[in-house]
Amino acid sequence: MPSNLHLGVNVDHIVTLRQVRYRHMLESPNAEPSVLYTALLAEQAGAHSITIHLRADRRHIQDADVFLLREGIQTKLNLEMGNTAEILAIALKAKPDFVCMVPENREEVTTEGGLDVAGQREALKTTVGALESNGTRVSMFIDPDPAQVRASADIGASMIELHTGTFANHFGAERAAEVARLKAAAELGHALGLQINAGHGLTTTNLPDLWPVPHLAELNIGHHIVSRSIVVGLESAVKEMLAVLTTYPAK
Ligand code: PXP
Repeated sequence: MPSNLHLGVNVDHIVTLRQVRYRHMLESPNAEPSVLYTALLAEQAGAHSITIHLRADRRHIQDADVFLLREGIQTKLNLEMGNTAEILAIALKAKPDFVCMVPENREEVTTEGGLDVAGQREALKTTVGALESNGTRVSMFIDPDPAQVRASADIGASMIELHTGTFANHFGAERAAEVARLKAAAELGHALGLQINAGHGLTTTNLPDLWPVPHLAELNIGHHIVSRSIVVGLESAVKEMLAVLTTYPAK
C-alpha cells in the first residue's frame, strides 16, 4: 500500500531570487520569478500544500505574497511565522489553512533551531487559540525533545513539525542517534493526539534515513527542491521528491 505522506513545497527561495533584484520595484511587470505561477507549477506536479515564511524583516515573502497565494493556490497554504502581534494580525486576516510557529532571529540565515514552547507556554497558547478559533490548524516547529512535544500538546496545538536540521547535517552514528530522538518524539506526539510533520534540510538522498520515524503526515521541503529545480525544472524537482515520499513505509 503506498504511503499517504504529504509534501508541502516551501517557495521562500523562489521569492528570495525575486527580492535580490526587484526589492524596490515589486510593482514592475519585470519583477520575476512569479511566486503564484511557481506555486501553481508545484501544485500541478503534485504538491499537497504551499509553505511560506513571512519573516519580520520581510527578507523574502512579502505581505502581498501571502494574500496572492491565499487567493490563487488550489491546495493548502501553510504559513510559518514567529509569535509577534504584527504577523499574527496578518495571519488572522489571511486565514491560511495551517500555521507553523517558528522561532525567529534576525541574524540567522534560515530557521536554526526549534521553538521553545515549554519556555513560553502562555504567549503561545494565546496565539494558538486565536488562530485555531479562526479556522487555522497550528503546528509547533520543535526539536525532538519530549518536553517540547508535551508542551505543544498542552497549549492546544494540533500538530508538531519536528526539526530535522540536526538529522540532515549529521552522518553515520550521529544521524542514527538523531533518528532515535525523532522516532521517540513522533511516538510521544502521536500518543498525545498530535499530527506529526517534519522539515528542514530534507533531500531526496537523506529521506530514506528518516523512514524509521513513524506517524509522519507531512514534510515541508524548500531548499533542495528549489536548488534541484535550477537543474531539472520545478515540476520535475517536485515529482522526484514525491517519488521518494511514496517509499515511506505505510502506517
Ligand atoms: N520547515 C520549517 C519550519 C522551516 O522554517 C523551513 C525553512 O527553514 C523548512 C521546513 C524547509 O527547510 P528547507 O528549506 O531546508 O527544506
